[in-house]
Amino acid sequence: MKIAVLPGDGIGPEIIGQAVKVLNALGESFEMETAPVGGAGYEASGHPLPEATLKLALEADAVLFGAVGDWKYDKLDRPLRPEQAILGLRKNLNLFANLRPAILYPELAGASTLKPEVVSGLDILIVRELTGDIYFGQPRGMRECPDGPFKGSREGFDTMRYSEPEIRRIAHVAFQAAQKRGKRLTSVDKANVLETFQFWKDIVTDVHKEYPDVELDHMYVDNAAMQLVRAPKKFDVIVTGNMFGDILSDAAAMLTGSIGMLPSASLDANNKGLYEPSHGSAPDIAGKGIANPLATILSAAMMLRYSLNKAEQADRVENAVKKVLAQGLRTGDIYEEGTTKVGTEQMGDAVVKALA
Ligand code: IPM
Ligand code: MG
Repeated sequence: MKIAVLPGDGIGPEIIGQAVKVLNALGESFEMETAPVGGAGYEASGHPLPEATLKLALEADAVLFGAVGDWKYDKLDRPLRPEQAILGLRKNLNLFANLRPAILYPELAGASTLKPEVVSGLDILIVRELTGDIYFGQPRGMRECPDGPFKGSREGFDTMRYSEPEIRRIAHVAFQAAQKRGKRLTSVDKANVLETFQFWKDIVTDVHKEYPDVELDHMYVDNAAMQLVRAPKKFDVIVTGNMFGDILSDAAAMLTGSIGMLPSASLDANNKGLYEPSHGSAPDIAGKGIANPLATILSAAMMLRYSLNKAEQADRVENAVKKVLAQGLRTGDIYEEGTTKVGTEQMGDAVVKALA
């Protein structure tokens, strides 16, 4: 089985290094090939998603992705910016289903900015549509405003749109995920204002007929943001569009104490996937050896489970992570008094040791 390893920018190479170390320690014979992406891709060949990198990603069974982005690329034209690499991979590989679990490990209850009783035992899953919505909707751009009170002045514009098949397929993924968990699904929309999300709500309601064992409710996105910080444990699975999912998943991540703990999977219709930590490239701490590699290691575990059909190995990795947390090892982002502060490398080594 072939894994495309795309470390990217900032802390990407450091954290990916630890995940690769863990994968190598499993005793499987994975073929891994590394390629530059993001700012690193731009440096190597003038484009954030070099042709050879895309080709490797397309032919691999799974993609292990670090992070992209650095302030120093902010002045480049949009198509050359690092973020275009991840958007291009999602689109070219048809990775429409983004799974972002937010689980609070009991040992980290004190690391959340919310009261322990609000978050302890938290286990929710955000299913974010990833290849549609205002992220990709055409037309978009800059133009002379064609109408209204500001006619003739410059304006920027994007288009929010969702087709029926796009909504149906992500709804199926979400209902099926809910069936395997607490059997409750919350569809998040803005049907009170947006046509796109009235349509979304109608289609999700229709798909629900095929999943009578799952309880479905609908929530407006502003209320969902509030409920996520008020009573997050009331959620089981959340399904929403690309834009709302981007925002809500960062909020959900913080409930768990650190975005440094959260893995994610982006899947196509055949469970081929790209796996990346939910956090970004954190250029401010890059190269210091202090980044938390656990989100990336847990992403590798998701890869084992969803794309490589190695559920037992996935369990091994997840249990090893639990073990090092129970041992009291913490990177700076999740450090509390009374625990042992370790660096990126030491954390990776500890997980490898805990696999045994
Ligand atoms: C994410 C990120 C990306 C997104 C950026 C880097 C393009 O924020 O994966 O959530 O907006 O989807
Ligand atoms: Mg985001």
